Amino acid sequence: MKIKNICCIGAGYVGGPTMAVIAQKCPEINVTVVDINEKRIAAWNDKDVENIPIYEPGLSKIVAEARGRNLFFSTDIDSAIDKADMIFISVNTPTKTYGIGKGMAADLKYIELCARQIARVSKSDKIVVEKSTLPVRTAEALKNILDNTGNGVNYQILSNPEFLAEGTAVDDLLSPDRVLIGGDIDTKKGKEAVQALVDVYTHWVPNERILTTNVWSSELSKLTANAFLAQRVSSINAMSELCEKTGADVNEVARAVGMDSRIGPKFLKSSVGFGGSCFQKDILNLVYIAKSFGLYEVADYWEQVIIMNDHQKRRFAANIVKTLFNTVSGKKIAFLGWAFKKDTNDTRESASIYVADYLLNEQAEIVIYDPKVKEEQIYADLDYLNSRTEEENRKRVSVVKDPYEAGKEAHAIAVLTEWDEFRTLDWKKLYEDMLKPAFLFDGRRLLDRKTKEDIGFDFYAIGS
Ligand code: UDX
Ligand code: ADP
Repeated sequence: MKIKNICCIGAGYVGGPTMAVIAQKCPEINVTVVDINEKRIAAWNDKDVENIPIYEPGLSKIVAEARGRNLFFSTDIDSAIDKADMIFISVNTPTKTYGIGKGMAADLKYIELCARQIARVSKSDKIVVEKSTLPVRTAEALKNILDNTGNGVNYQILSNPEFLAEGTAVDDLLSPDRVLIGGDIDTKKGKEAVQALVDVYTHWVPNERILTTNVWSSELSKLTANAFLAQRVSSINAMSELCEKTGADVNEVARAVGMDSRIGPKFLKSSVGFGGSCFQKDILNLVYIAKSFGLYEVADYWEQVIIMNDHQKRRFAANIVKTLFNTVSGKKIAFLGWAFKKDTNDTRESASIYVADYLLNEQAEIVIYDPKVKEEQIYADLDYLNSRTEEENRKRVSVVKDPYEAGKEAHAIAVLTEWDEFRTLDWKKLYEDMLKPAFLFDGRRLLDRKTKEDIGFDFYAIGS
């Protein structure tokens, strides 16, 4: 079966870049990305391609090439579903904030709404592809809804988890380590559906990098990959605290350990804590699934990765308070970076949010500079915590457009995101304009070789 029309529900960090690359690489396939968020769709359609709602290096160029040719962004969800042979579901699946499984399970209400909409609209057979990270066995729930509310239409459900990391999404999509496709490979129709999706990817991905499995293996592989990656960060972060006590340096330890080819050098960078929309959510989900099967040791094992991560954020903030003579009340702290990592404007679960919350509880004043995150997003992140009134957040937190302005008359600077532009800052100049004694807290190890004499500051770097 040859796919001619693709619809993707959800124009976010996953749906947007993924569909842009599919459209670029498969000019004969029409790709329509739909979303209920009109503002987001309008931004994807903005005449100036630099205004698309997601910042990813290289993405605007691809959108400029394919948009209007075979890549479309629309709010007309019904008509895109109706036309499509293949529908990707890329909606958000946040952790539940209410009821059973609160704080643990993934909230599938957006997925379910999509399924019901597909069932209501479809008049011809569809291949439905899960792209969002989902709990194991979601495909079954999807199939149940589609088969029982549809109008005699045949649905094949595939799981095709996305492994792209934000900030490198375009490169990850163009040359993925692997593409994973789970389907009902025991039936003829299932096999055909899997093959149809394989044929989309073979436009640019070598065959040997495309893996096909059953649906459950595919769903569980995604959770496992994220759990393993997050575990590495928590492992090195656990060592960072020990390094600080013993005089070892976590970067040196990481280098020595990473040269063991069985361990490998990647994902061993100690930090103020991992963030992003996936790691915490997926591990909580894994913990929830394990508990629901009575596998308490498995659940506790993975939960420890989150416990360590929360501890890392808290101890970074606590160290700022301790160093500033046990009080930050009324003191100005400058934050360099708000995004959860460099090269993205995404702030979901960013460590900066929790460090800020801790310091605001200690009555600090915070001034934030981030090259890509908008002021309204920063306030939305803080308001979402419900720790303070919106008015108070605006009184105590300000957002500026220049790192030097952030540092002016501050008692301390905290580096929360490893943006490249922070590596070339004039630290001496920053230091001169600060209140003395001035401190620098490097949560990203930007300043390894800079000495106190070089830049004036007393500085703390995580893991050394
Ligand atoms: C992750 C997975 O990498 C990706 O495969 C999956 O599809 C989605 O989740 P993402 O969250 O976008 O991607 O970014 P990633 O590069 O994995 O970083 C996650 C967090 O870990 C960031 O806050 C990052 O700063 C932190 N991190 C990463 C470290 O602190 N140290 C490291 O060595 C690596
Ligand atoms: P991700 O990082 O998984 O891509 P995002 O939150 O960036 O997550 O994107 C998910 C998108 O899905 C949002 O733009 C949201 O508006 C959209 N969405 C959620 N539910 C629906 C729905 N039922 N129909 C269409 N779009 C939806």
